[in-house]
Amino acid sequence: MQQKNIGILTSGGDAPGMNACIRAITRTAIQNKMHVFGYLNGYEGLIHHHFIKLDSRAVGNIIHRGGTILKSSRSPQFATLEGRKLAYQSLIKNEIAALIVIGGDGTMKGAVEFSNEYSDITIIGIPGTIDNDLFGTDYTIGYDSAVQTAVELIDKLRDTANALGRLFFVEVMGRDVGSIALAAGLAAGAEDILIPEIKTDLNELSNKLRACKHKESFIVVVAEGDDAGGALEIAAKFKQMHPEYDIKTLILGHLLRGGNPTANDRILASRLGVSAIDAMLNGKKNCVVGLKNNEIIYTPLNLCQKHFLTLNKEWNHLIQLLSN
Ligand code: F6P
Repeated sequence: MQQKNIGILTSGGDAPGMNACIRAITRTAIQNKMHVFGYLNGYEGLIHHHFIKLDSRAVGNIIHRGGTILKSSRSPQFATLEGRKLAYQSLIKNEIAALIVIGGDGTMKGAVEFSNEYSDITIIGIPGTIDNDLFGTDYTIGYDSAVQTAVELIDKLRDTANALGRLFFVEVMGRDVGSIALAAGLAAGAEDILIPEIKTDLNELSNKLRACKHKESFIVVVAEGDDAGGALEIAAKFKQMHPEYDIKTLILGHLLRGGNPTANDRILASRLGVSAIDAMLNGKKNCVVGLKNNEIIYTPLNLCQKHFLTLNKEWNHLIQLLSN
């Protein structure tokens, strides 16, 4: 083992399970005689040399908590040469030769730039984002929890939608991908989903809803990045076309990032956290730890960019089939 001091940070949008991952990394590192520096507010903490020392107790009682005890940020300064230089100096000051970054595609992009400039620092990435849109893993930490939250909220919405015979457009996060909308739509029994991976045609949606005329209420799940707009825009267009519907909208937004992680996310976070330390102990450099077919895999950091969903046609088919 070359590294004695390691750094950890969480960056970008927080995701339930990040704390479970920090816990797994810290405890595995300590058992391997490493010292753990938790950098605060993502890459901002590196730039401003803000960190806390983590020991086993510091990560106690957090496995079940959403958010991140290390806080997070999207750092414009880390996108600059000067910002990354300050970050490097902070690591050198703490004699850190390996850094674990937990986050989404923006986090990995920053890590690639940094590793191209400072080859003496090893970076291990762990995919943490509710969007499930990273290459190198089947699941990102937080996705399962976000889908679970969406389904629970849509279940509640169904009661009032049905009582008043309304059509609800429910917007979920997913700037570029419809992964949450697809899974939540299927699990919550939505009439339809509108996602960036499928060109939205509101006439088709009209036909669809007309075909389930016997129904008293409808739920359409919209990914925020859909090509026809978000839920508000789509609802306004649909109202123009169909004044006969009593249309309401609900934006679930940041609620999907909150709350306790599901058991699946805690297990995923624990496995990826331990595997990140294993990677270091085995001398791996600059890679992302992920899960493929339930096996841990390591993918070169520079390949782990945003992964646009290959539409799960079977799931979409099921939504259409079962909503009639
Ligand atoms: O974490 C990813 C994501 O949840 C996207 O789906 C969403 O568009 C974005 O974060 C929102 O980020 P912010 O909290 O910066 O508004």
